[in-house]
Order: sequence, then C-alpha cells, then structure tokens
Amino acid sequence: MRRKLVVGNWKMHGSRPANAELLAALLAARPLMGPGGDVAVCVPFVYLGETAAQLAAGDIRWGAQDVSPHAQGAYTGEISAAMLQECGCRYAIVGHSERRAYHAESDELVAAKAQAALGRGITPIVCVGETLQQRDAGETESVVKRQLSAVIHTLAHCAAEMVVAYEPVWAIGTGRTATPEQAQAVHAVLRAQLQAATGHAERMCILYGGSVKADNAAALFAMPDIDGGLIGGASLKAADFIAICRAAG
Ligand code: PGA
Repeated sequence: MRRKLVVGNWKMHGSRPANAELLAALLAARPLMGPGGDVAVCVPFVYLGETAAQLAAGDIRWGAQDVSPHAQGAYTGEISAAMLQECGCRYAIVGHSERRAYHAESDELVAAKAQAALGRGITPIVCVGETLQQRDAGETESVVKRQLSAVIHTLAHCAAEMVVAYEPVWAIGTGRTATPEQAQAVHAVLRAQLQAATGHAERMCILYGGSVKADNAAALFAMPDIDGGLIGGASLKAADFIAICRAAG
C-alpha cells in the first residue's frame, strides 16, 4: 500500500502572524490524517526557519517551493539545496507551472533542480501538466510525458525517489478541477512511464493538484493512481486544509 501525501503550496502568501496561526491550527488538529498518510506545507523561503521551529515537535513536514540547480556561488537571489537541508526541508517543489510560465523554466532546468534537491536528501515534488490549449489539441499525454521524461533521464537510478504532481494548468487557481476520471487517466499514464523507467512505480507517489477543495478531495483521492494532493488556495485556510487531509487519510 502506498502512503497518501497531502502538501500545501502556500505560494507567495502569508505573514508571520497568519502563518503562526495557521500552523498552530494544523498542529492542534493532528493527527490530520490516519497512520497511512503524511502532511507537509511548502512555504516561502523566508518563513522556513520559523516554520521549522514551530513544526519541529509535531508530525507535519515542511518544504520549499523552488530550489537552485547550483550548489553554491555567484547566483544572486538563489537558494541552494544545502540551505534548504539546513532548514530541515523534507520537500522542494520544482517545475510548478507558475515558474515554468513566469520564469521560463525549461524541462532541463526543472530536472537539474530535482537533481540538486535529491543530492541533499530533499524529495523533489516535480510538477507536470498541460495547458487548456494543449488539452484541447489532444496533447495532454505527450506534454506530461515529455516533462517527466527530462527528469527521469537526469535522475537516472534515483528517479524512483521523486514525488510527481500532476497539475493541469487550466485547473490551477481557477476553481475548475479535473474530474477524478480525467486525473486518473493521466496519473495512469505517468505511473506506466515511471514503471518503465524505474521498475518501482508501485511505490511512487503521484499527487494531483489544481483546485482541490474539501468537497472534491475524497473523490479524487479514491482513484487508484492518485496518492494525495498538492493544494494551493485551500491550504491557506486551516479548516479547508484539515478537511482535505482527512479526506486522504
Ligand atoms: P490551487 O493550486 O489548489 O490553488 O489550484 C494548486 C497548485 O498550484 O499547486
């Protein structure tokens, strides 16, 4: 049995008081999930220290939303995997569609970031997903396979250590969720690709992300290849995120 995983992606939201209140509510609600699942929050870099301090005693994990592909050096504004490791990060999201779109991140760059994270024992959460235009053109499979294949190629024998998140771009922040069947169909394609590459896909975690809410989470998480969720907007409200975690547990 694969463990379920629910990860909050706070994006560029939060403040010290709001974060402290949200994390306190999550900690108070533990166990957020049954024994078969894990919960994490991926917070803005500047809040990692405080998040680590507040979550240290609980069983909620934390991570970052990006990582530099470089180990160290003259890369103004970048944050290395070693720095994330020092902050106790368990995860780093890489290749989120917002970074691919607004920062022109290529499949190769995303793969290099995933490799940098793994090199420091941080699990990369590798996001893949098609735009509405690509879906309408019947390109969903080819797009997500191309995105994932770059990471598989770079990680090589370590590829089975990543978490994959299928996030259709048209479903992110739009309130328009993929149906459980639409999501499952893509997850099955991704798992088959991971199986062919690693031979260990049955133990790999493939998350769904894109307008997951308290009222649609259970149906999504019930699908055979959906192992949890990457939650944006709904991860900022304690009651909603707790309900989603419970739906996975
Ligand atoms: P959303 O975002 O839940 O707000 O749609 C998901 C994500 O971007 O990871």
